[in-house]
Formats: sequence, C-alpha cells, structure tokens
Amino acid sequence: MITDVELKNLWFKFFESKSFKRIEGYSIIPENDPTVLFTTAGMHPLVPYLLGEPHPAGNKICDIQRCIRTTDIDEVGDDTHLTFFEMLGNWFLGECDKEKMIEYSFEFLTKYLKIPKEKLATTVFAGDETAPKDEVAYNAWKKCGIKEVFYLNKKHNWWALGGGVGPCGPDTEMFFDTGKPKCSENCSPACDCGKYIEIWNDVFMQYVVEKEGEKVKQLKKPNIDTGMGLERTVVILNGLKSVYDCGILKEVIDFISSKAKVKYLENENSKRSYRIIADHLRSALFILGDAHGVLPSNVGQGYILRRFIRRAVNCARNIGFETKYFENILNMYVDRHGEDYSDIKRNREFAISELNKEVEKFSKALEEGHKEFDKVINGIEKHKEFAKSKGEVVPNIISGKACFRLYDTFGFPFELTKELASERGYEVDEEGYKKAFEEHQEKSRTASAGTFKGGLADTSMASAHLHTATHLLMAGLRKMFGNGVMQKGSNITPERMRLDFNVDHKLTPEEIKNLEDFVNDAIKKAIPVTYEEMSIDDAKKSGAVGVFESKYGDVVKVYTIGDVSKEICGGPHAKNTADLHHFKIVKEESSSAGIRRIKAILD
Ligand code: ALA
Repeated sequence: MITDVELKNLWFKFFESKSFKRIEGYSIIPENDPTVLFTTAGMHPLVPYLLGEPHPAGNKICDIQRCIRTTDIDEVGDDTHLTFFEMLGNWFLGECDKEKMIEYSFEFLTKYLKIPKEKLATTVFAGDETAPKDEVAYNAWKKCGIKEVFYLNKKHNWWALGGGVGPCGPDTEMFFDTGKPKCSENCSPACDCGKYIEIWNDVFMQYVVEKEGEKVKQLKKPNIDTGMGLERTVVILNGLKSVYDCGILKEVIDFISSKAKVKYLENENSKRSYRIIADHLRSALFILGDAHGVLPSNVGQGYILRRFIRRAVNCARNIGFETKYFENILNMYVDRHGEDYSDIKRNREFAISELNKEVEKFSKALEEGHKEFDKVINGIEKHKEFAKSKGEVVPNIISGKACFRLYDTFGFPFELTKELASERGYEVDEEGYKKAFEEHQEKSRTASAGTFKGGLADTSMASAHLHTATHLLMAGLRKMFGNGVMQKGSNITPERMRLDFNVDHKLTPEEIKNLEDFVNDAIKKAIPVTYEEMSIDDAKKSGAVGVFESKYGDVVKVYTIGDVSKEICGGPHAKNTADLHHFKIVKEESSSAGIRRIKAILD
C-alpha cells in the first residue's frame, strides 16, 4: 500500500534529485485571472511564467497544487469525482526537451512507483492543421520500451486552459493498463471501457492563444507543464476502486460512520451523501481558509462555497449526521493538509466559525422552506375546493415551478420536496422541475459568460496595471494608518482591483480622498516600477513588505516603486506608474471583523 503522503514525498525526492526546486503551491483563488473562479490546475498560477516572465525560483520547479473543479459537481459521490483535489506538478520554463521529460516520466513511474513497463500505455498527438504529428514524443516512448503508444487527435492530446486562451500545446498522457481485456479491436485510452486509466499528463506548451477566437501562435520560449492527480494515482497504485477508499477521505468517511444513523453502504443514496459531505467540506475549508478571505454569498466564489456547505447540510440530514460534527471534519483536514498549505492552518478558527455561521443560517432557511412547502399545499387544497364547487377535479400535483422555487429560494433539494409530497399524498411535476432548472442554468451560464469574458493574454495588461495600483494603495494605507496595516487578501480582474486590509474603522470620505490623491500623485510622478530577485532574508532586511511568505522558494522578487513602495510579490506589474492614468476608489466596505475592503478602478 502506498499512501498519499508517500507518493507526494517520492515526487519531491525524485524531482529534487533532478535539480528541480520545490515551491509552495499557490492560492486556490486565482490572483490575476478573471476567467475562472478557482485554480484548476498546477500550471494555472504559473501562466505569466509560461508566457516568458522569469520565475524567482528558477526555470525548473515542482510543487503540489490545491485545485477545485466544479464542472463535474453533480458526479461527486461516484467512485472517481471530487471537487477538491491535489495535483503534483513539475515545470521546465523556457525549455521544451520532450525526450528528457519522457525519460524522467518513465523513470519515475517504473523505478519510484515500481509500475512494470508492461502495465503502461501512452498517447501522443496525431497532428492536424494546428501542429504536426508528435513523432519526437512517440519515438521517446518507444525508446523507453513502451509497447502501446497511441496517436490520438486534438480532442485527447491537446491541452489548454478551460477558456482556450493562454499557453497550450500537444501533450502525452500516461495510462495504467488495468489488465481488463480490450473492449474491441480499436480499444485504446480514448475509450472509456475502463481498461486504461490516466495517471499523468506531460504538456508541451509550445503555443499560445492570445485572444479568444484567435489562432494558435508559436511561443518564443516553449515550456513543459506536467500534472499528476494525487488521489487518483494512489487509488490506481493500490488497486482500489474509489478515491474514497484511502487517505484522509477514508478517515473522514469512517468518522461520519461512527456518528451517523444511516450506514455508509446502506444504499446508493447514503453512500453518495457520505462522500459528498467528505468532498464538499474539504473544498469549503480550502476556500474559507484561503488568504483571500472568501465568504459564502450569492455570487462568484462565494456562491460555490455556499453551495458546497448547503449540499453538505442536506446530505447530513439524509444520513442522520449532526452538523455539529462538521467542525471535527474541518479539523481533520487541517491536521492532514496544514503542513503543505499554510493558509488553512493559519485560518483554522476563522474557517470553522464562518462555516458554522453558514450552517446555522441555512438550517433556518430549511425551516422557512418547510413553512413554504405547507403554503404550497394549502394553496392547492384551496384551489381544489374552488374547482370542486364548479364540478372540476384538480390532481394532487405540485408544479415544477413551485418545486424549483423551493429549491432555489429555500435550498430545498428536489428529493426532499418529493419525499414530503409523497408523505402528504401528493406527486411532483418532475418534468416541469427539470425544465425550470434548465432554464435557470441557461440564464446563469449566459450571465457568467458575460462576467468572465475575455482571456488571460488580452487582459493581462489591465490586470498588471491594477496590480501596481494595489501596491501604491497599500503604501498609502500604511502611510496613513501605520506599518501595522497589511494586505489581507486581494483579487484583480481586468476591470477593477479589490484589496482587503486590517483597519478597524470605516474610512471617512476625507481619508478616501487622501488615499486617491496619494496614488494619483505617484501616477503623475511617472515612477519606474522595477524588481530585483533576492533571498527572503535580504528582502526582509531591505524593508520590503511581505504578505505571502514562501516556504520553499528561498529567492523572491521584490518590486520597488521609487521610494513609495517596496513589496515582495510575484508580479507582473506596469513598467511605469504613468501607465495607470488615473486611480479612483469606487467602494469602501467591511469585509469581515476588523478588515476593510476597497474596490478601485483605473480610468
Ligand atoms: N496542465 C496539465 C493538466 O492539468 C498538466 O492536466
């Protein structure tokens, strides 16, 4: 049995032996990328470096990245899907030696993970009008002695970020052959018969899409980006069936079992409920515990967080598991993951207390939902009486719209409505509910397509300018309120910047005006923005303000804006403050206790 911790240690041991530098993974909330809500892959926070910016830790790095993917949220509860997962990654920045990376991959899989080479199959890009057939990768695998190397098309062997914009390229994927017989003559890793299971992906990032809809261009400095899903690989290596059968997820399932009224494997529904609680609470912890301080709300990341928590509450209800134990589960996760992800360790108490608040709020909403349900039934009963007086008959059916309203406004899961309805001798209009649900989904898709339009490359300039404005604003705040003021979170979209900081009162209009003047003065002075790389200790000695201390990277970048600001930061930034034109604060509000939030734009 190889555990998740062992696999992680082997990963770092191997790559460090090949001179890769370990860096701490990045936040779960993308810093400068408005196109997605969460970090979805190890390469995601590294996009500026994949596009040519030098990385402070050098050009060979490795890490373990916390990721959240919500595309398959409805599948969670089966054997393989998770919303939160950890991705092991390594990168060659500005270098794309496919043969070397394939040799490394082969060595790691066969010598470190001890997978016999006969159990491995790989795929490479077959070529099309975008890029040629990847014969280099094919030959490299053959040289290693891999028998089954498949050429597959773009659908399978081309990797790009969700929106399609950004660095991209052909990849080679590695599969574990489970030994099942081939499902047909053409059986390959492209089919989903279960014979081949993917374990690792090496992406050759030789191209970039600069704007939505544009063709791919060659990158001046190509890279290699690789990713291995931790949980999934542990399951395969141990010959297990489900990601919930090992590691911390199993420990959490066992804990729930010790407290819940319904058994884990009592039925399909109970199994799913246990698993959803285990998965969703981990995602919720990582969002609440992030340095950005996201709270449950009805938009963006806050909305997803709310969904995770509420769904966990509903599932707890299904299996008779008291929500007071959610706290224990969060603590189990912090104990297990805190060493790798210092944010959740630092914000343990905050995350627990915010989770409890949301659980309580939702439990009240559920109560309201029950009242609303009674109203719906009473309404139908009245209608029935009226119809009866006219000699008509109204069936005992709750309309799809009413079911959807119970779900959407009161968080009532459809299954719950159905259950209560049947207790009262009613049926529900399932088709109508589905229709209302789909209409709503369509609306939110259109809305979010609007919100998150635009890509990385075309918006990176605006984001870089706003990033520089954040440093200037931070300097203004420290000048005004003293050096105890620190950044408590930041989020930048191409349209605006948001900065959270610790000041204990609502800023007065005069203070806001002074801050704007401070930043605009620095803009008028046209100060060059420069950076230097130095050790963390030298950076501290130089008086640089540091928010996110790196645990593994000794070398950091220090950005200096004349004598106005000096901050440890990854960048990217404007070249000169004059690029910012004019700074305007559009909102000042409370973020949480003792933390204020400013939203500002450049116009
Ligand atoms: N970026 C690649 C992936 O996520 C490695 O699969």
